[in-house]
Amino acid sequence: MNVTPFWLAGRSATGAGELTVTHPYDGRVVGAAAVPTPEQVEEAVAAAHAVRDEAAALPLHVRAEALAHVSRRLEERSEEVARLITGENGKPLLWARGEVTRAVSTFRFAAEETRRWSPTTQRLDTDPAANGRIVYITRAPKGPVLGISPFNFPLNLTAHKIAPAIAVGAPIVVKPAPATPLSALLLGELLAETDLPAGMFSVLPVPNDRAGALVDDPRLPIVSFTGSVPVGWAINDQVPRKHVTLELGGNGAAVVLPGSDLDWAASRVGLFSNYQAGQSCIAVQRVYVDRTVYDAFVPKLVESVNGLVTGDPWDDKTQVGPLVSEDAAVRVETWVDEAVAAGARVLAGGSRDGAAYAPTVLADVPADSKIAQEEVFGPVLMVQPVDGVDEAFELVNASKFGLQAGVFTRDLDIAFRAHRELQVGGVVIGDVPSYRADQMPYGGVKDSGVGREGLRSAMADYTEEKVMVLTGLPL
Ligand code: SIN
Repeated sequence: MNVTPFWLAGRSATGAGELTVTHPYDGRVVGAAAVPTPEQVEEAVAAAHAVRDEAAALPLHVRAEALAHVSRRLEERSEEVARLITGENGKPLLWARGEVTRAVSTFRFAAEETRRWSPTTQRLDTDPAANGRIVYITRAPKGPVLGISPFNFPLNLTAHKIAPAIAVGAPIVVKPAPATPLSALLLGELLAETDLPAGMFSVLPVPNDRAGALVDDPRLPIVSFTGSVPVGWAINDQVPRKHVTLELGGNGAAVVLPGSDLDWAASRVGLFSNYQAGQSCIAVQRVYVDRTVYDAFVPKLVESVNGLVTGDPWDDKTQVGPLVSEDAAVRVETWVDEAVAAGARVLAGGSRDGAAYAPTVLADVPADSKIAQEEVFGPVLMVQPVDGVDEAFELVNASKFGLQAGVFTRDLDIAFRAHRELQVGGVVIGDVPSYRADQMPYGGVKDSGVGREGLRSAMADYTEEKVMVLTGLPL
């Protein structure tokens, strides 16, 4: 078995041990990643710190060209990269290919934003005391970034850490999820083909129990974390004086209202509660359906869920594959069984086979059950009738999470009301909460996190304004 080297300050290296990567569908070993020693981690962090001024001064065309290069190379190697994702993560090729396409765009959008990354000016003579004065405003990187990325989108969510860092001229040290380090290491390989200075990037597949030291390191003043809720907030508490961005969990809700296209809503909800076996923070987990259309909607939803193609992730037609591990599937099974014991009814699915859990629809789920309260991160959906928009929005908001929500309506007033009243980072009208465009602001409120990704938002997040006042100008 080849051991994939890691990336230490722009060059490939091997360390003291290795992480074995297995395929969730059949447990087969698909690869291994070299693990850096503590001394090598120190070298990477020291290099990021040392290069920070040079990085901030890099001409925009150098940064933009590096980002565009990664985008092009991902596109050229797209099928190979998709297979790498499916191998390490278990998501069906259908979704892995989609993830590669998105990562191509993520780097391309970053290149485009880099070319637009210009200072602004503001006239100050709106005040008599400031006649003849203007302020020139730049955004300076807050410093090197520690990017910690999750297993569920091992390529694109790592891209969302790296691309904005390079765009603003900030060095980055990436710690990928131990279950899925290979996609992040491939990004390291593509970055190494560019003219970025040594130290600008490192990809270090260290185990989770060594992440704390990186989080603490004062030479990495920005921590951008995507992953679980408890780990994310523990990081925030660990380093309250650092700039921490958290993209955490959700229990995404969809609202189906009268007048919407029920066939469309049922097919979208059915698919996007189960895409990636539900392992997306914005997968649909709760669906609130107006009582006047509930009886028409539910059979369509069940038909859509039962019609999903499950099984081997390598089969082009498969829509729902395994979860990331058998342990994860067992947890989902336990939560469903608990809800059923408390009175929930299984309308579809409800069974486990190894690491795979059947696409599942539950009704009559008790409000205090884990399925209603927590993030399932599995292919399970609860459906519930509601009496109108007020009750639907109240239930969407009765969650400790607040990432995205979807509202199926054609009523513009209700759309704007949803945007005003729903306690989430994003509202999607006419589609599921699972819709994300990589160039738009993305992130949550409440337990779902703090800060926003999306290229322009993350570039703002990694930087702070710095002003220069010019005086005595003939304005
Ligand atoms: C996530 O699971 O947080 C990311 C979802 C996405 O990028 O589509």
